Amino acid sequence: MVHCRDRGSEVLAGDESHILFYEQGSVAQVAGVFPRAVQTLKDGRLDLKDLESKIQHSYPDVHFAQTCLICLENSHNRMGGRVLPLSYMKEVRNVADRYGLKIHLDGARLFNAAEALGAEPAEIVRFCDSVSLCLSKGLGAPVGALIGGKAEFIAEARRARKLLGGGMRQAGVLAAAGLVALKHAKDNVKLDHQNAKIFAKAVQELACPLCTTDPSVVDSNMVLLTITEPLSGQELCDQLCADGQRSGVAVKALAFSPWTVRLVWHRDISTEDTLKALEKLKWVLQKYKTGATQPEAPRG
Ligand SMILES: Cc1ncc(COP(=O)(O)O)c(C=O)c1O
Repeated sequence: MVHCRDRGSEVLAGDESHILFYEQGSVAQVAGVFPRAVQTLKDGRLDLKDLESKIQHSYPDVHFAQTCLICLENSHNRMGGRVLPLSYMKEVRNVADRYGLKIHLDGARLFNAAEALGAEPAEIVRFCDSVSLCLSKGLGAPVGALIGGKAEFIAEARRARKLLGGGMRQAGVLAAAGLVALKHAKDNVKLDHQNAKIFAKAVQELACPLCTTDPSVVDSNMVLLTITEPLSGQELCDQLCADGQRSGVAVKALAFSPWTVRLVWHRDISTEDTLKALEKLKWVLQKYKTGATQPEAPRG
């Protein structure tokens, strides 16, 4: 909203980005900005040729909207936590500068990206005009998100926030929890990445055709499982979550599609929990392999 104040503004964002996928089209519905989808590559990058071709080069010809903004996502949720390299961020900055565009980074998981790149968050956001960051995901605060940018951007963002009903009074209690999340962010995120890798490697070692994954693309705190019939993504999620009492653990996973399940590690999941989750997965897969309906539950 802040970068695209004029009516007839246009934003370029990935077709698999959170901003276009999960926000009810709020870019158009609330901000009154026209969104154009750019192809998202498997590693979360936007295809640069597609990006550049979608800029409205003929503006201010009366037929065209004015491209104002490019949105990136790092790490990328729907691509399984893939992390955009700094060299790529720089390439997008070059494109943006060539056409006088702003860049907003959806850095909901900025600390995960930083850990994966071995960089400070500031090194990532220096290629952007603004950034948003969630405190309540991997970092484990009960609530909260931050937005960053230059002073004049933040002043406008405060106005937009108030307009959208997001202004809060006595928010210090929540901010205190957010500060704790930030203080421990680096260590927690590192552990999450290690646990996700452990899990992905173990799934690969199972060599079960019903459920596979590629540990080499686990950049951060997510693992995407590829599911094959007769199992489906939703069924796997239901089974992983079911029988928590008997099996010692209820694993909450998300089916992105009938073929893809996402698992995410966060501050409250230890290595021990990860191994329990793995046992639960084995238990579910065994059930499908043997066609058994009531297998022995694993010991928690
Ligand atoms: C990549 C990404 N961006 C943005 C959001 C939204 O974050 P918030 O609910 O803090 O606005 C989420 C989470 O839902 C997300 O995964």
